[in-house]
Amino acid sequence: MPAAALPSASGSSLLSFAADNPYFQAGFGLLGVGAAMTVARTGSIWGATVLRRRMLVSLEIDNRDRAYDWFLAWMAHRSNGAASSASRSAPWIRSHELSVETMIERRPNGSSSVFFQLVAGPGTHWFKYKGAWMQVKRERETRSMMGGQQTGMSVPWETVTLTTLSRDRGLFPDLLAEARDLGMQGQEGKLVIHTAWGIEWRPFGKPRRKRPLQSVVLEPNMAETIEADIKSFLARRQWYADRGIPYRRGYLLHGPPGSGKTSFIQALAGSLSYDICLLNLSERGLADDKLNHLLSNAPERSFVLIEDVDAAFNKRVQTSADGFGFPLLSRVLKIILRSRYQSSVTFSGFLNAIDGVASGEERIIFMTTNHVEHLDPALIRPGRVDLSVLVDNASPLQARTLFERFYGGGTNTEINPDDLKILAQDLQDLVEEKMKSGQRVSMAALQGHFIRNPPREAVAGSSELFKA
Ligand SMILES: Nc1ncnc2c1ncn2[C@@H]1O[C@H](COP(=O)(O)OP(=O)(O)OP(=O)(O)O)[C@@H](O)[C@H]1O
Ligand SMILES: [Mg+2]
Repeated sequence: MPAAALPSASGSSLLSFAADNPYFQAGFGLLGVGAAMTVARTGSIWGATVLRRRMLVSLEIDNRDRAYDWFLAWMAHRSNGAASSASRSAPWIRSHELSVETMIERRPNGSSSVFFQLVAGPGTHWFKYKGAWMQVKRERETRSMMGGQQTGMSVPWETVTLTTLSRDRGLFPDLLAEARDLGMQGQEGKLVIHTAWGIEWRPFGKPRRKRPLQSVVLEPNMAETIEADIKSFLARRQWYADRGIPYRRGYLLHGPPGSGKTSFIQALAGSLSYDICLLNLSERGLADDKLNHLLSNAPERSFVLIEDVDAAFNKRVQTSADGFGFPLLSRVLKIILRSRYQSSVTFSGFLNAIDGVASGEERIIFMTTNHVEHLDPALIRPGRVDLSVLVDNASPLQARTLFERFYGGGTNTEINPDDLKILAQDLQDLVEEKMKSGQRVSMAALQGHFIRNPPREAVAGSSELFKA
């Protein structure tokens, strides 16, 4: 049948046409090669993925984790160590991308030291650890910030990814433990101060050496009273829990400048192995919600220290009092200035934050002020401030004790113990006499004077230091 024969006839003729046509053959050839390449490429990608999955192992650490800083410091430490000891075995193949971390340490006498640490910057680095090669990729995601707008200060989101051969995966825990030990080593027996960074607390500067508690000379029994109070508080966690009382304690140390308030709090924290979280209420960008968050999320075993607590809210009192004759203009100006340069913590926000219900954790707050009379009674009521102590200018006995501490002791051969006793008595009498005429001297002024002078001159010249 011609109709049925047609397709097969035309089909075979098409095939034979294609077989005979050189262009068609070339097209088919190319198609085949293309397909083969695609298969090979897909195969190799798949193969590489499988290989990577099977043979490599990765560990990601992001910068919210404490291990992040430990790891970077550990890497910096290793590269420094190798550079100084054996440059032959420098652990870095590639470390062209470095970043700097600056730490500033301020000492109570006002001086400060700055330390730089060069750490691996964003990019890819390699190092060898216990015979295994590791790749470190540090990546920074600038679009998403930690902290964000509500905090005013934000930190880019960062990760480091460590990659090594699968058989060496057991090295990760060793490496992290080493980094942690190195990170903690600097802190052992030291006082760590944290400051608010966005909505987080971060260690500020290097850990400091602890100050011995006895080196701060207060009135007899004052230090012991505060220490005993805090110790009894710390021993009564269950007692508070059983009675449903928030487990918090607030201390206020008030008195003239240079009387030892800050020094004592630091020494006390050190003696109890506590950290200090330094909270600045006037910090720009600080608002009620952020303050609440910070107070509820202070690191464990730490005192929250709020210095000059009167200063943050004093300005509010003045705002309503003065006016320069243009009350409205003055108020508008102040609002603008405050929103630009000051925190927007409100007094009621602050009160709520310190006795807020948000936190059931242990919380110890220390506040200091030079002007207790400026403080709102609402702030110093029990529950917010449980123990308020006046740390005053030098009493006769304090001056004497400080003098003896300074010049006494086995190492001082400048003066014999009997003469020292007489001089100490002279100083004590002088302070007593001056007090009768209403003149005082601060412990800080005495300390500065003692640093500059040998004992006899110190006592002889000390009457100049007194102020009405
Ligand atoms: N009672 C004290 N015993 C020993 N040293 C003291 C005492 N008071 C002050 N000093 C010394 O004086 C310096 C300043 O002390 P500190 O900063 O503790 O005073 P402060 O009361 O916090 O002052 P301010 O109210 O100005 O903050 C420190 O170097 C400290 O060693
Ligand atoms: Mg102080």
